[in-house]
Amino acid sequence: MQQQTSIHGMWSSRLAFILAASGSAVGLGNIWRFPYLTSDNGGGAFVLIYLACIALVGLPIMAAEILLGRQGRLSPINTLRKITSEGGHSRFWVVIGWIGLASAVMILSFYSVIGGWTLNYAFDYLLQLLGMAPAITDPGATFGAMLASPGSLVLWHTVFMLLTVGVVALGVEKGLERAVTWLMPLLFLILLGLLGYGVSTGKVGQAFEFLFVPDWSEVKGSTVLAALGQAFFSLSLGMCGIMTYGAYLPQGISIPRVSITVALTDTSVALLAGLAIFPVVFAFGIDPAGGGPGLIFTALPLAFNDMPFGIAYAVAFFVLLAVAAWTSSISLLEPPTAFLVEKCKLTRGKAAMVSAVAIWALGLVTALSFNVWQQVRVMGRDLQGAIEYLASDLMLPIGGLLIAVFTGWFLSRDTSRGELSHLSDGAFAGWLWLVRVVAPALVLLVLARAFL
Ligand code: TRP
Repeated sequence: MQQQTSIHGMWSSRLAFILAASGSAVGLGNIWRFPYLTSDNGGGAFVLIYLACIALVGLPIMAAEILLGRQGRLSPINTLRKITSEGGHSRFWVVIGWIGLASAVMILSFYSVIGGWTLNYAFDYLLQLLGMAPAITDPGATFGAMLASPGSLVLWHTVFMLLTVGVVALGVEKGLERAVTWLMPLLFLILLGLLGYGVSTGKVGQAFEFLFVPDWSEVKGSTVLAALGQAFFSLSLGMCGIMTYGAYLPQGISIPRVSITVALTDTSVALLAGLAIFPVVFAFGIDPAGGGPGLIFTALPLAFNDMPFGIAYAVAFFVLLAVAAWTSSISLLEPPTAFLVEKCKLTRGKAAMVSAVAIWALGLVTALSFNVWQQVRVMGRDLQGAIEYLASDLMLPIGGLLIAVFTGWFLSRDTSRGELSHLSDGAFAGWLWLVRVVAPALVLLVLARAFL
């Protein structure tokens, strides 16, 4: 029998769910990762493939994740146990939850270090605003100095993790989501302001061309894989995070409608971030190719130095970016926390602490990969790059593939039809075709193209 409510609490309304899911989706993925991957992967073609992945793979899988969550009403692993045992399916499918747990741990470990960068920049710009620190005249050198210092990377990583675990341990995610009701629109406005600055430099046309005019000759197997991985990363998909949120979704709410709203919000923030950052890249003569993970930290300070009230603007930008990262990181800490609560009967606070300490320790690998372990290479990447690649580009798409196949081919049709009762028969058939055939085939093709 399907449960109507979850022991972990419920969303009070459709809007509450949309805010929480958008809070999870919108984060460093949109503003830090999307621009840097676009830069590293040659621009337009990457962006168009990314958009296609959102529509054809991301959206149908998001609906699938939410509906599985609402069926089980528990943490992902136990949701899958419940659904498979009630439906008489193989226990193999529980592996989806384990892959999800592992990817959440890996992603949060480096996410927290990058979140630390945003806190570090927010703090430095605040000092500058108060006249207590010198201006950043050479952003590349400033960024390099931060990376070279294990002490400051670990310090800010620790602060970011404490903020995250604080919210999850106290169970006040919903309080944070409420704050986001106005902070997110503010972040959007800040990006619009940056776009306005970009317009004043006369380089928006060039940025637009770089972002949207494809040069298909640039496309390699790794480009397509990066675009697919980014679609999953940005939508918080493939690791059962949205499934966890779906577990707290009241019965009558339309899953397709919330999925579309979240995907549109997330995608518009990413595109706006791209349109805000690339004019700056062109205006200051930075090479748009190969910007790497430092792109926004080295490009944007040039704009802040040049704009009226630029330093105050920089404080606002990095504070809001840190908040956006914060609402995403709590969604990454939620699955391991909920799992420990159910599995080891820990209190919520203890479970969050145990998860956070383990993830923090793993994060040290990322922090040290920029300095002490700089030379170490795994799969041709530095340690941080390898963790990011393994989790985002491989584990998320594989998790998503399994979610699509299970929901499309194994879950009873009555169940999915019941969960998606707001769709017309035609739209439901379309969704079923996407999760059964299109999404799995695309994920397999992309993986094959990258590795065979
Ligand atoms: N989507 C978030 C971002 O773009 C990051 C994130 C939160 C995430 N939860 C996730 C990524 C789950 C993958 C899976 O910043």
